Amino acid sequence: MKILVVGGGGREHALAWKLAQLPQVEQIYVAPGNAGTQWEAKSGFAASTNVPIQAENIDALIHFAREQEINLTVVGPEAPLAAGIVDQFSSAGIRAFGPTQAAAQLESSKAFSKAFMQRHHIPTAAYGTFTDYDNAAAFVRNFGKPVVVKADGLAAGKGVVVCETVDEALQALQRILVDSEFGAAGTQVVIEERLVGTEASLLAFCDGQDVLLMPPARDHKRVFDGDQGPNTGGMGAYCLGDMDHALLSAEMLNEVRETVLLATMRGMAQEGISYKGVLYAGLMLTPDGVRVLEFNARFGDPETQVILPLMRADLVDILEACIDGKLSAMSHENIWKSEACAAVVMASGGYPGNYAKGLPIQGLDPVKDAVVFHAGTTTNSANETITVGGRVLAVVGYDYSLETALDKAYKAVEQIQFEGAHYRHDIGRAAIAEASS
Ligand code: AMP
Ligand code: GLY
Repeated sequence: MKILVVGGGGREHALAWKLAQLPQVEQIYVAPGNAGTQWEAKSGFAASTNVPIQAENIDALIHFAREQEINLTVVGPEAPLAAGIVDQFSSAGIRAFGPTQAAAQLESSKAFSKAFMQRHHIPTAAYGTFTDYDNAAAFVRNFGKPVVVKADGLAAGKGVVVCETVDEALQALQRILVDSEFGAAGTQVVIEERLVGTEASLLAFCDGQDVLLMPPARDHKRVFDGDQGPNTGGMGAYCLGDMDHALLSAEMLNEVRETVLLATMRGMAQEGISYKGVLYAGLMLTPDGVRVLEFNARFGDPETQVILPLMRADLVDILEACIDGKLSAMSHENIWKSEACAAVVMASGGYPGNYAKGLPIQGLDPVKDAVVFHAGTTTNSANETITVGGRVLAVVGYDYSLETALDKAYKAVEQIQFEGAHYRHDIGRAAIAEASS
């Protein structure tokens, strides 16, 4: 079969890499892809080819999928989902994996998502939504507890400001509502209680009725070691596959499956929306129980880079079962390996602020004992791999223990260079410290 992966980041490279290893897959196309998503067919891998169509150019993608007789399209990023790519593909009679535009509102509007959670009693932080600075400022002054200020719309993971003080919250409101730093995505803000606890990303495949959980993963959102500095799209992640782990016990996983993931899918169904695709719950494990920080309507980045290497089952079978509403007919056993996987993101100097582009990347070939998923990379006219985005690479190691997986990832990171490259040195460290205490 022929598969089209829409997007060009590390998540899409990981999807293409996983899909290319399946026996029924003959050819992958990635639109627009990056320097890592193009390869010839080789033993155990179907060929992957970049297609110069942007992920938001839905008409051109439909044209391409028709012309090439693509059997399955997998949508990575949120922007085309929010723009209705899956609705348009379905209308054109082309199979696409992902939620419809209405379903993707769980991610594309934080105000929608919070009100939805409230309507369906899904545990989340207390909040208010505002379009007016003075009302928002009064709410912050009266709240009496630290808050988090969030731009309502899509802002590539950067529209959330976790505030220590009232002044910081007022500054965030000024930047989002008054200075329009996030444009139309910031015409409305959600202000919510700042929760304290351990974060986990719990993703599930959904078919409108049933869910198939992926093993929980942990992202590292702040740019610097020790969770310092501003939020980013994600600086690294780990996942422990089918292993027992401290992140979420089996009992808690079951509870969250019911009270968050199934409850959300059922709530959406009650509102006339069939949720098919990946539902990603960003969770805070607080002393008072699990709370949802946010929903994403897609695979996480960099979570996908640490989850998919641990998948034993056939990803195409799962994606098709979601589209066809047949997840419950599938065995949910033996889907995941009992191994650990860790990703370290190498970012451009200055990211998540401004950064230079076009810098050559050295040391990529060959990288031993690790898989390098490309994100912000491209190829120049001299056929060199150069930087073009903020998050440049996700360097991934996997093994039977998290320590060894991390060791492999960091050894590979040390071989790779580009000017200004920076990465966190403490990915997974808290998990290892916890496990040994
Ligand atoms: P979001 O995009 O809503 O997941 O927010 C990005 C990051 O901001 C999360 O991964 C958390 O680290 C942090 N965050 C979001 N909401 C809260 C909250 N209510 N309390 C504490 N931290 C939060
Ligand atoms: N890792 C966070 C996200 O994908 O939104």
